Amino acid sequence: MATVGSAVGLGAVWRFPNQVQAGGGAAFLLIYVACLLILGIPVMLAEFSLGRGVRSDIIGDFRRFTPRQPWWLTGGVSLLAVYLINGFYMVVAGWTLQYFWGSVTGSLYEGIGTESSLTFADRMQDAMTDTWSPIFWTVVVLLLNILILLRGVQKGVEKMSNLLMPLLFILLLILCGVTLTLPGASGGISFFLKPDFSAVTAATCVNALGQSFFSLSLGMGILLTYSAYFPDNVNLPKTSVTVAGCTLLVSVLMGLIVFPAVASFGLLSGHESMEGTALVFITLPEVFARMPGCRVWSAIFFALLAIAAITSTLSTSEVCIKFFQDRFGWSRNKSVIILLLSLCVLSPLCSLSNGPLSSFRICGMNIFDLFDNVSTNYLLPIAAFLTCIYVGWKVPRGFLHDQLTDRGATLPRLAPVIVFFIRYVAPLLILTVFIYSLL
Ligand code: PFF
Repeated sequence: MATVGSAVGLGAVWRFPNQVQAGGGAAFLLIYVACLLILGIPVMLAEFSLGRGVRSDIIGDFRRFTPRQPWWLTGGVSLLAVYLINGFYMVVAGWTLQYFWGSVTGSLYEGIGTESSLTFADRMQDAMTDTWSPIFWTVVVLLLNILILLRGVQKGVEKMSNLLMPLLFILLLILCGVTLTLPGASGGISFFLKPDFSAVTAATCVNALGQSFFSLSLGMGILLTYSAYFPDNVNLPKTSVTVAGCTLLVSVLMGLIVFPAVASFGLLSGHESMEGTALVFITLPEVFARMPGCRVWSAIFFALLAIAAITSTLSTSEVCIKFFQDRFGWSRNKSVIILLLSLCVLSPLCSLSNGPLSSFRICGMNIFDLFDNVSTNYLLPIAAFLTCIYVGWKVPRGFLHDQLTDRGATLPRLAPVIVFFIRYVAPLLILTVFIYSLL
């Protein structure tokens, strides 16, 4: 349950609809599902087997079988990815808090659509591009992180989130019921479910690959760390299918909520520049506004989303903190403070890059998008590629087989298939997508 909780987060709820929108709809969805099945599950199993078998940290796992070779650098790539992801994820977590607060005070819904022509897209644009308010909420998220991590109460927070996440899921089901019955919803449904392959480019494949890694928390060191705590009798293939299944379910639900709403309300016209980042924050308030008890639904939803986001940042922060403690011998408190203070510089930069700093661009992207793109589409796949090679070729066969089959007790015939995927299919596919995208 904890692993499902760590996987299902803003990746499925916030990032997935944006990617579908940018990737042309249903074709992206299909490629994403293929990536989950062919790459996501085998890579997850490679991480689980290594993590549970060695039971060490992100660097130690890669030292166990090759102490004199630089395989531990794989852990380094994950660490860099996680750090950059934290940079922009804190900002999005800040938006969720800002929207929660806006629902509680009512300011989110004030003045929309009555006499003025103000829309939720305008409101989000203001919230994103303003200088101080997004930084304020990002810093609130960072302070919450510091508070929770310094007091060592993350176990409690995670328990609470495990209780609340099913609630978020039920809320999504209700919302889905509302949006599917909206007038004109069918246009959105066919955009999301009827593939148009002529729109597929190399970039679509790279993005779908990145999204599958991001949403399953692959290549981040999170699953390596979590699986070190799995009991010996946990069935790894079953666990990986459950995690991927839950992530996919939440993602598809989000698609069924967001796209009918976009089609029905004719959202986004005139806001094309925001399509990439803010879809959920524009469509959902629009849906809530049509439900009785609008602000209550809205407050509950954004509170749950904020909790989901913050618990995710706790797990990634933890990966970095453990690294500081183990490598540099820093105390826990020092590690927490240094990590989060450095993010107090990095995350506001990401936030400002949507507003005052938006003209500062590298490779045509602002800092926020650059961090997202580099970490998700490049660093995570590189880390996953190296993990597969390491687990497939450097780790003894017997060790891997034991992990995948619980020492021969379960699914003995499936193990060789999984090993084949880890050794050949996954690394070759990742490589192919990369080369294809460079051409
Ligand atoms: N799978 C997680 C999600 O979709 O939210 C990935 C994640 C990203 C976890 C960033 C933690 C984090 F800070």
